Amino acid sequence: MNHESVATAYQRYAPVYDLLFGGLFEPGRRRLIQALDCRAGESVLEVGVGTGLSLRHYPPHTRVTGIDLSPHMLERARARVRRHGLDNVDLLAMDAQSLSFPDASFDKVAALYVASVVPDPAAMMRELRRVCRPGGQVLVVNHFSRGAGWPHALERRLAPFAPSLGFRPLFPLDPFVAEAGMELAGTLPVNLFGYWTLVRFINSESAAAAA
Ligand SMILES: C[S@@+](CC[C@H](N)C(=O)[O-])C[C@H]1O[C@@H](n2cnc3c(N)ncnc32)[C@H](O)[C@@H]1O
Repeated sequence: MNHESVATAYQRYAPVYDLLFGGLFEPGRRRLIQALDCRAGESVLEVGVGTGLSLRHYPPHTRVTGIDLSPHMLERARARVRRHGLDNVDLLAMDAQSLSFPDASFDKVAALYVASVVPDPAAMMRELRRVCRPGGQVLVVNHFSRGAGWPHALERRLAPFAPSLGFRPLFPLDPFVAEAGMELAGTLPVNLFGYWTLVRFINSESAAAAA
């Protein structure tokens, strides 16, 4: 996976993304935003915002900044924001592995179905930790490899096609959590057969000092 293969894959997906992944991924989007428990005046960064399918679920009192690498996905997100008059949302073209925001810019950070897409997930998590205020939360929903059973057999078969699929089928949870350098506050299975997982991190001072 590299930026070029990601950009090409999501240029291809953009016109059909909502049809393919809108409904399938929807419970995870709703669950993550519910878990964020946004309070009035809080700011949220959502990385890999895609076509903006999550944006209507945020409370209108929450300031949401969505970023994405793909101009084709962002164009659709912008149209969605205009269509629904979401004036609490700002959208920017940016790389989640190299964010242009100052440290501690956001109360909460969300990453929906993007961790296994970026070329360097550890670099993305370092950036999410940096821009999240100390004591804030970073929430991730993604599929994680189980290491057994038919899903794992399928993941192994699909692994060589990661660049054209636009995501990494083999993506184990434990190294991802270890590299995130934040306190793990819990995990929850979401979506069909609980194959995807909501992972909640707290950006605690002690974890930051240890990282
Ligand atoms: C599977 S889609 C998820 C879209 C959306 N979050 C959802 O809930 O459906 C992955 C998104 O991550 C974006 N993406 C991939 N690599 C990225 C990066 N390095 N920085 C920002 N966005 C990235 C892709 O362009 C795509 O829109």
